[in-house]
Amino acid sequence: MKICFLMYPWEEVKKLDSTLRLIHECVKRGHLVGMTTPERLGIRDSVTMANCQIFDRGQKVSASMSSFYKNAVKSWKNVPMAGYDAVFMRANPPMDPLVLNFLDSIKDDVFVMNAVKGLREANNKIYTAAYYDPDHELIPTTHVSKDVDYLKQIIEESDQEQMIMKPLDGFGGRGVIIIEKSASKNIKSLLDFYVNNSRPGEKSQYVILQEYVPGAEKGDVRVLMLNGEPIASIRRVPSSGDVRSNVSAGGSVQKYKLTKEEVQFCRKIGEKLVRDGLYFTGLDIINGKLIEVNVMSPGALTEYNMLNKTRIQIPIIDFIEKTVLEKNLARKRKSDMDSMLEG
Ligand SMILES: Nc1ncnc2c1ncn2[C@@H]1O[C@H](COP(=O)(O)OP(=O)(O)O)[C@@H](O)[C@H]1O
Ligand SMILES: [Mg+2]
Repeated sequence: MKICFLMYPWEEVKKLDSTLRLIHECVKRGHLVGMTTPERLGIRDSVTMANCQIFDRGQKVSASMSSFYKNAVKSWKNVPMAGYDAVFMRANPPMDPLVLNFLDSIKDDVFVMNAVKGLREANNKIYTAAYYDPDHELIPTTHVSKDVDYLKQIIEESDQEQMIMKPLDGFGGRGVIIIEKSASKNIKSLLDFYVNNSRPGEKSQYVILQEYVPGAEKGDVRVLMLNGEPIASIRRVPSSGDVRSNVSAGGSVQKYKLTKEEVQFCRKIGEKLVRDGLYFTGLDIINGKLIEVNVMSPGALTEYNMLNKTRIQIPIIDFIEKTVLEKNLARKRKSDMDSMLEG
């Protein structure tokens, strides 16, 4: 198959990145593998094109990630995106919505993981915040607003001493803080900063106010979901004195096996994810509550591999191969029938 990774620049790929393992698996299997970045997409004569680095086929592929990264042979080519069988989204959030318009133009011809519709809907934390949860079983109570007075009122009326505040489209733990009700003199100023001044020169920003989920001190669980099923999980523990478990914010990782209840919980979320075309995602779960669905470029694959001495990229690439094969077979059946009728 021909697969394109729509990602951050190759020069920024680090030795431990999940993306490197996914690319390596595809090249090792002998697929035609291209890499491009959102900035390299464009339209030429009504065709969506991309400047891609394409790995030479037939080269010897080192088993070591650092040697593969250093030595793999690839060359730049301008190619039509619809020529690929699959596009694997691995760009960093937040996604420029215009990039999704480019993908709209190829989505009928190419298997895009995750689907454009799902990427558009889950482009920020509103996707999780608006999750249908009438019995408050799945997500913590969450408010999204840019109305400072409303947000202040929520904090004042809350019966919890502390709440979580975070920007709507943050990632990697950026800007996630605990708001203590007792620090009431700071609250207005903090809210005002998050809503009106956090990005100088830009218009006001939405913020999330969320119930603090008890037990978060012990860390959260990152689950990798593939086609509605949990396939890998690790625990991430915040460094002392920090509320955030993200590895990029100093959190450490531990081996973790999901309980039966957690597997059920993930499958329940997974049904919706698959309906929305979100085949490969990373869930953040604390104490049985869903905190976030990562859809752009979920990580933790390398950490899971190291803790469990496995290569979880294998079933992920298997899934793409299988989906592409089914798509191609369906297409062939149609053209077979056309030639049958003509003949
Ligand atoms: N409601 C919450 N209760 C307790 N801890 C939280 C809550 N929300 C976020 N956190 C902590 O902050 C981290 C980052 O929050 P998250 O919503 O996943 O945003 P990001 O996109 O920055 O990863 C979580 O992994 C968790 O450790
Ligand atoms: Mg997160």
